Amino acid sequence: MSPSVSEDIASNGPTATPSSTSGKPHVLIVGGGLGGLMLALLLERANIPYQVFERASKARALGSAMSLGANILPVFEQLGILEDVKNISLPVYEQRLYEASMKRSGALTMKDYKDITGYDTYVFPRPELHQLMLERVPVEKVLVNKKVLSMEQNQLGVMIRCADGTQYHGDILVGADGAYSSVRQALYKKLDAKGSLPKSDTESLALGFITMVGVTHALDPEKYPCLKETVVNFSQVIGGHYMSWHTLTVPGNRVCWNASIQLTSEAESRACQFRNSEWGPESIENTIKVFKECKVPIGGTMGDLIEATPQDLISRVYLEEKLFETWQHGRTALIGDGAVNAMQDAVILANVINDLESTNPADIKVALESYQEQRYPHAKFEYMNSKMISKIMTGQKWNERLLRHIAFNLPGWVRMRGFIKSAVYRPQASFLPFIEKRGTGSVLPQAPSHRQSAKPRRSMTEKRGKRATVVSI
Ligand SMILES: Cc1cc2nc3c(=O)[nH]c(=O)nc-3n(C[C@H](O)[C@H](O)[C@H](O)COP(=O)(O)OP(=O)(O)OC[C@H]3O[C@@H](n4cnc5c(N)ncnc54)[C@H](O)[C@@H]3O)c2cc1C
Ligand SMILES: *[C@@H]1O[C@H](CO)[C@@H](O)[C@H](O)[C@H]1NC(C)=O
Ligand SMILES: *[C@@H]1O[C@H](CO)[C@@H](O)[C@H](O)[C@H]1NC(C)=O
Ligand SMILES: *[C@@H]1O[C@H](CO)[C@@H](O)[C@H](O)[C@H]1NC(C)=O
Repeated sequence: MSPSVSEDIASNGPTATPSSTSGKPHVLIVGGGLGGLMLALLLERANIPYQVFERASKARALGSAMSLGANILPVFEQLGILEDVKNISLPVYEQRLYEASMKRSGALTMKDYKDITGYDTYVFPRPELHQLMLERVPVEKVLVNKKVLSMEQNQLGVMIRCADGTQYHGDILVGADGAYSSVRQALYKKLDAKGSLPKSDTESLALGFITMVGVTHALDPEKYPCLKETVVNFSQVIGGHYMSWHTLTVPGNRVCWNASIQLTSEAESRACQFRNSEWGPESIENTIKVFKECKVPIGGTMGDLIEATPQDLISRVYLEEKLFETWQHGRTALIGDGAVNAMQDAVILANVINDLESTNPADIKVALESYQEQRYPHAKFEYMNSKMISKIMTGQKWNERLLRHIAFNLPGWVRMRGFIKSAVYRPQASFLPFIEKRGTGSVLPQAPSHRQSAKPRRSMTEKRGKRATVVSI
């Protein structure tokens, strides 16, 4: 089933979608990033009708290295694309810290992680994972050049309006449109007007770093011997003056690099108000100048690597940190906040949507609330964890230096315990064959699907009785 499109600007509210006989909801996914595409791949397998709306006209090769580990790889395995992910990746075995002089100041081995979790941690260029996932979503399910401007929801359904004047109707709306999500902004505006938005959600994102990233063309392995290896050592340089940079090798003799400047004061943050979410290659020259002479552990300078990178493969990023409190309301759910989180969100959201027994607003509301309930504690843990890791790996305030010193001098078993704690959460799609755990470490139990479980269940509406009322906002 395809979504009903109406070009009639005068019609200004959601209408009921022609529900399929199966009673399955029609899902509108705004944003074809990693989160949106993961949800698309899952709904495809669950046989649930959906449509992706992507603002860009085509996928741009922006972004640099990303890594995935045991927290999400089982889902790729369920989808039958783990081998494809491995093919674009190299496993990381060690993390090393250097000073600007190239003096080694610390190292953490990750070699043993596979024994514990059953999976290596894989590094790959982000655009290649995006491409890999996009190729596996039926082409007619992804509409490009669809910049979503606003949304409405009521008892009958959800509706989005795009910049080209088109409107689309569905039963569930998912905002998978990144850090500056229009769906989130539209939803929050309505909730705020009603006075039902927590204060913290009205505050803007806190700026942490300005980063420039790129992926080089194929380099000469004689010049960079690390390219001859089939594993990666993550080499992070803490350069002083709030600068840090790192490199990671990826298949094809290429190097992904990342050069960051930590933003330390209000004033600096304000100076960056011209930021945008586009990852665009705008005004990169200044940032390049700053890092040109910096030495890199794999040999040569940042300048060499930047020179070996096609201009259009360099992106500038403003890294902002925030954990929102409101993830859903009525028929609308938001996913995102980092690649692994976005994909884990997609898994749990697909599970609750698959478990829906009707498309009535009360059932949808309960399902989306359950999505947030299941995900929030884990997302919060990951948020705190990654904030801490980023402080340890790049922070240059005195207390962060101290933290780094402590972290890199902890006994191996303490570090391992910390790692294991974040690796136990590995949500899987409840409607696909379950991937049994492989490593020696434990894994949190998976909530079973209501549909798949043997016991017959009362419908959610029945259970909730009189509460099955308004979702209009
Ligand atoms: C171009 C790009 C490069 C990145 N590079 C890196 C990297 O090098 N390293 C790293 O760790 N992380 C990178 N990220 C971030 C990382 O991919 C995301 O944090 C993570 O994937 C979360 O995914 P997401 O799906 O929530 O959001 P995103 O990956 O940000 O995807 C959001 C998608 O929604 C689309 N969109 C936005 N607004 C609208 C709208 N109004 N209507 C329709 N579509 C809309 C965007 O075009 C984009 O395709 C990058 C993200 C992008 C978009
Ligand atoms: C693996 O990736 C290479 C490019 O890096 C590609 O040419 C090849 O077809 C891929 N192999 C498989 C099995 O996907
Ligand atoms: C990477 O680290 C491993 C140890 O984990 C070491 O054997 C290897 O030589 C290192 N490679 C480089 C290029 O430093
Ligand atoms: C760049 O590196 C920093 C520090 O290691 C990290 O926090 C950030 O997410 C990286 N940015 C990108 C876009 O990969």
